[in-house]
Amino acid sequence: MTRHDTVSLTGAALEDALAPLRRAKSMPAELYTSPEVFGLERERIFLRNWFFLCREEQIPEKGDYKTFDTLGGPIILVRGQDGQLRCFANYCRHRGSLLLQGSGNCGSRIMCPYHAWSYFSDGRLYGCPDMKDAEGFDRTENGLVPVRMESWAGFVFACFRDDSPPLIEHLGDLPQRFGSHRLDQMRCVWTLSIPVACNWKLILENAMETYHTGTVHRDTVGAQVQRPIPTTGDWLCMQVLSRRSIGTMNATIPPLPQIERLDEDALEGTYFSVIHPNVQFAVSQDCMWWLNVIPLSADRSILELGGCFPESSLALPDFDHHRKAYEERWERVAREDMGVLENQQKALTSVKFRPGPLSGRDDMVQAVGRWNLAQLGV
Ligand code: FES
Ligand SMILES: [Fe+2]
Repeated sequence: MTRHDTVSLTGAALEDALAPLRRAKSMPAELYTSPEVFGLERERIFLRNWFFLCREEQIPEKGDYKTFDTLGGPIILVRGQDGQLRCFANYCRHRGSLLLQGSGNCGSRIMCPYHAWSYFSDGRLYGCPDMKDAEGFDRTENGLVPVRMESWAGFVFACFRDDSPPLIEHLGDLPQRFGSHRLDQMRCVWTLSIPVACNWKLILENAMETYHTGTVHRDTVGAQVQRPIPTTGDWLCMQVLSRRSIGTMNATIPPLPQIERLDEDALEGTYFSVIHPNVQFAVSQDCMWWLNVIPLSADRSILELGGCFPESSLALPDFDHHRKAYEERWERVAREDMGVLENQQKALTSVKFRPGPLSGRDDMVQAVGRWNLAQLGV
């Protein structure tokens, strides 16, 4: 059986999707609806690449933890008594119970809720009652199983594969492009999770084009103009042109101060990026927000939004007054998009569906698809 048979994709439809933009078509519907394609994506995209978890300051204290459900299974991010963040598979080495749920503080040890084995927050096994008779049992070999974790500028990423290149290589020239925003000095103040009945790729494609903003967001951010930003590494970027931050749209609450010493390009507008495979960083003149798309199945995802401001803005006496305008904008615009995307997902199940011609304004949509297909090896 060829790979195309496995995922029911025809060569001609893929050729059209990958053709030069002026004669390219949208992706075949199976890319968004097929459980087999989703299975391939899990194996070849999500189990191989770095993916975003959260900001470091969301786990500030010793013993603080946060759990994540990923396509590689549940994982834990925990800050040890030595202050270090570590990532582990979220299961007990005895008979596999889930160790932690949600987020909280585990103190100096993680205790299994099933038979009370316990682990130091650095992963070493501490307590294992009634194991004296177990032949060859070695406590040092039964600590939590680590998952690769690296941070850049306070953004924490994980990767299930031990031999893929380091995060910094994955990010390519992103650190230079966002250098003058000094993202390491930003702090996350807001997150929101929205369940969405659509394929994860629809959310990212939508997040990289302004073709729809004049219609879908006519009452909020309105029509926008974008320009492509060249990148190296596993990410894409475009910029929505506006010398005023588009992080807020509320005319009655003034925007927060612009970040000092932004470079010339950064002053021109807000960068919208996709760090492959599944997170967007939107970086504006006064803030950044992310759209982390957590795939659950071919037609279900969770959109997690996060909002960050420079520490200097957080220190302003009227910061709380300002932040509301940003949070409202982020949520409202996201919900406008998700409504359209859930309907698009429904329409893609039509047995009469045929891929349609792309516009010149769909350049980044095609770029998102290209990277994903390359990972699948088709
Ligand atoms: S499964 Fe954790 S102690 Fe038994
Ligand atoms: Fe949108």
